Amino acid sequence: MAGAELIGREELAEIQDLFSREKTTLYRYAPGNYKAREFEEKFASYMGVKYAHAVSSGTAAIHCALAGAGVGPGDEVITTAWTFIAPVEAAAALGAVPVPVEIDETYHLDPNEVEKAITPKTKAIVAIPMWASPKMDEIKAICDRHGLILIEDAAQALGATYKGKKLGTIGKVASFSFDAGKTLHVGEGGIIVTDDKDIYDRVAEFSDHGHMHVPGLPRGKDPRRAKGLNYRLSEVTAAIGIAQLGKIDYILSKARENKYRIKDRISHLDNLAMRPFADEAGAQGDTLIFKLRDRQTALQFEAHLTEHGFGTKILPEAIDWHYAAIWGHLLKAYDRYRDAKLEELWPRTGELLQSSICLNIPVLMDDATIERLVAAIISGSEKIG
Ligand SMILES: Cc1ncc(COP(=O)(O)O)c(C=O)c1O
Repeated sequence: MAGAELIGREELAEIQDLFSREKTTLYRYAPGNYKAREFEEKFASYMGVKYAHAVSSGTAAIHCALAGAGVGPGDEVITTAWTFIAPVEAAAALGAVPVPVEIDETYHLDPNEVEKAITPKTKAIVAIPMWASPKMDEIKAICDRHGLILIEDAAQALGATYKGKKLGTIGKVASFSFDAGKTLHVGEGGIIVTDDKDIYDRVAEFSDHGHMHVPGLPRGKDPRRAKGLNYRLSEVTAAIGIAQLGKIDYILSKARENKYRIKDRISHLDNLAMRPFADEAGAQGDTLIFKLRDRQTALQFEAHLTEHGFGTKILPEAIDWHYAAIWGHLLKAYDRYRDAKLEELWPRTGELLQSSICLNIPVLMDDATIERLVAAIISGSEKIG
């Protein structure tokens, strides 16, 4: 849950500050407004990038990132077969062809599968870190070799790093989400980061009907060079984002501390195969993933956890939503998928997802809750044998 657990006085104070102006307008482009700008500047500085542009959701953010990077009709966009569907929807909305590929043992894009999926129409690769890093060196090398744009949809991975570098700063452009399940929570919101001025400008334009925001021009006279939509962030949401960003170090360090307090006590259980990492030191703390024998065992383990008052996060239920094989409503529009049996296209991903458990590790966990969770995992491991 991360930032959503800590919504409180600081967020309210930022909103009160907004309302303490002589004349309050909540529209980010009204003259004199500043919360969205301040949030973007602080976020860019936290990430160590030149530009950040905040928008109304993580879905909007990846849509803007893809549009800003120049993804368009007919382009193929390679991404992972395990993700929330938003990046796939965003590619489709731009007229591009989403190409999901199998994940590897780290639950991320398998570089070998990426390489195999490249065609002359491939334009970009969207790496989607799930609370930890994909094999970014390998993926970046593939992009460099084939002249592809590397985009990170880091919605789930704000604060995670790969070999010391923040996820979201390795590709050409990256997006984040601030919905209720993410590192920071603002109600609904997202942000795009990049060091590339042209991409930044195009992202900002796409998020506001193409408006180029030429200083001094009235909005009606503002020129446009490309189409867009309304993905603007309100000043109220930006104000909440400023307060949440102030809590990020605490959020990340507490969740990591909690994760290791649990993981260190269960790693010896040999019927739970802990998720391997490309770089565990940089992974976030808010999830703990392990693989069990098969789906039946995973469902049995999940039921055991539920009995003890603990839920799971995305796994093993990903097979019903966060998995390319059940996106027929979207993929069947493309020739390459129309007659395919989707469940046969990504078998390794399906097997891994349906036999794994993902635990949510909250920031606010007291000692007694940690003890109860550890006990539930140990008794679950004994039960499945
Ligand atoms: C990888 C990824 N991209 C995009 C999104 C969409 O974010 P939002 O819910 O803010 O639209 C999510 C949400 O879970 C996600 O996991």
